[in-house]
Amino acid sequence: MKIALATDHGGFPLKETIKKLLLELHVDTTDYGSEGAESVDYPDYAIAVAEQVSEGKVDAGVLVCGTGIGMAIVANKFKGIRAAVVNDPYTARMAKEHNNANIVCLGGRVNDPEKARELVKIWLTTRYEGGRHDRRLQKISEIDKKNLK
Ligand code: RB5
Repeated sequence: MKIALATDHGGFPLKETIKKLLLELHVDTTDYGSEGAESVDYPDYAIAVAEQVSEGKVDAGVLVCGTGIGMAIVANKFKGIRAAVVNDPYTARMAKEHNNANIVCLGGRVNDPEKARELVKIWLTTRYEGGRHDRRLQKISEIDKKNLK
């Protein structure tokens, strides 16, 4: 499995924690930055990861900012992206089980490292349930087709 990972300054330490976790899990991970506390613009990093996922160059993405929200807003403007902010084990599981989220977004200012590890692990290991959810995801794809190039 290939994952693209990025953060802004609001999530840098957590991005490093997640990178270490993905390494431990033998997930092929590409880090698109940023690399420290210097203030940067989260859309630039969300774009880098969302493009990789949208173009099928990687299987999924992980984005971190202060809250995860800005990253999700940007990523969801790309075709085929289903980016979800997860804040607890239940939303991490549902993001995959029901929404088949291909990008998970976390807040570096709202999650401690242990919790972030747990949430990413849940999202990675949960299976998409399919069935009735296929119909719903199909409706989302139709919006993509209509509104995005
Ligand atoms: C940066 O201060 C902060 O706005 C950003 O990390 C993020 O939380 C945006 O959604």
